[in-house]
Amino acid sequence: MRVFVTGASGHIASAVIPELISAGHCVTGLARSDTAAATIQGLGADVWRGDLADTDGLSAAAREADGVIHLAFDHAAQGAGDLAGAVTADLAAVQAIGVGLAGSGKPFVGTNATGGIALAGFSGVLTEDVVLSGGPRIDTENAVIALAQQDVRAAVVRLPPAVHSNGRYGFVSGLIGIARVSGTAGYLGDGANRWGSTDTCDVARLYRLALESAPAGARLHAVAEEGIRMREIAEAIGRRLGVPAAPVAAEEATQQFGFLTPFVSMDNPVSSQTTRDALQWIPSGPGLIEALERDPALAPIAG
Ligand SMILES: NC(=O)c1ccc[n+]([C@@H]2O[C@H](COP(=O)([O-])OP(=O)(O)OC[C@H]3O[C@@H](n4cnc5c(N)ncnc54)[C@H](OP(=O)(O)O)[C@@H]3O)[C@@H](O)[C@H]2O)c1
Repeated sequence: MRVFVTGASGHIASAVIPELISAGHCVTGLARSDTAAATIQGLGADVWRGDLADTDGLSAAAREADGVIHLAFDHAAQGAGDLAGAVTADLAAVQAIGVGLAGSGKPFVGTNATGGIALAGFSGVLTEDVVLSGGPRIDTENAVIALAQQDVRAAVVRLPPAVHSNGRYGFVSGLIGIARVSGTAGYLGDGANRWGSTDTCDVARLYRLALESAPAGARLHAVAEEGIRMREIAEAIGRRLGVPAAPVAAEEATQQFGFLTPFVSMDNPVSSQTTRDALQWIPSGPGLIEALERDPALAPIAG
């Protein structure tokens, strides 16, 4: 299959593209800069120059492909406080890809974050059958799934907050950076709230399986570890950086964690049993704590 991948210069695509190529697919990756183009070419993929805002270009790229995996998301805007802008661009991009794929029967694998579903009010263990009517990124998930009504084999992969490999840990990287600067590996309350986690290679395998064979309308959970307590994550960071792990007072949470504050306080356990059964997906990579313990780049901070 010729697969068009957005976010092709990002962390998760760095495993998805090799996974696709090793399975015999060809990849064209979206690049908005020369740097991104070089990264994509370095992974053995071809380049489609454009930005998420270039919706005509996205439709054309999708039309030319045999399938699409959408991974791009403007995390810089999110980190700068413009989550709404990033979410709006994401929805517009998905709609544009849908224009290119409608009526084709081709596969389209979109992306959502399990954390957004918890922040939108869902509590308990998140399962694949949980569908919310709307919210940031949930609207995008629902827009992807709705394309199944237009003869697109549309599916969404929901990702936990900590997709990790090669020294990159999703939102846990943010917590490591904060611990380095503040000298404390913090958590909120008793730190009993949980985040899921998965090794990036396991995530990549699920994207490939979804592309190849997920039924139209499937919501899939790329979650290997159902929920690791935030206190345990903070203690692992603290051990590696040589700083104390400690609770952060609620009134100091925003100052400590910035835009991550709602995520640090959420409880987001996730089951992936339905996904494992449907696609015979068996995650086998290291767990988050093991990855943190083994990372040679994590060393005690000076002082
Ligand atoms: N990593 C995790 O733990 C995690 C957890 C939950 C959900 N997710 C979701 O998984 C997806 C992939 O995440 P990731 O970790 O691979 O992200 P990442 O490393 O931050 O990469 C983001 C990608 O999106 C591209 N991008 C951003 N804004 C763009 C724009 N305006 N036009 C074109 N491309 C643009 C970036 O291109 P440049 O290289 O040009 O910046 C990059 O290729 C995202 O939807 C993310 O929210 C990730």
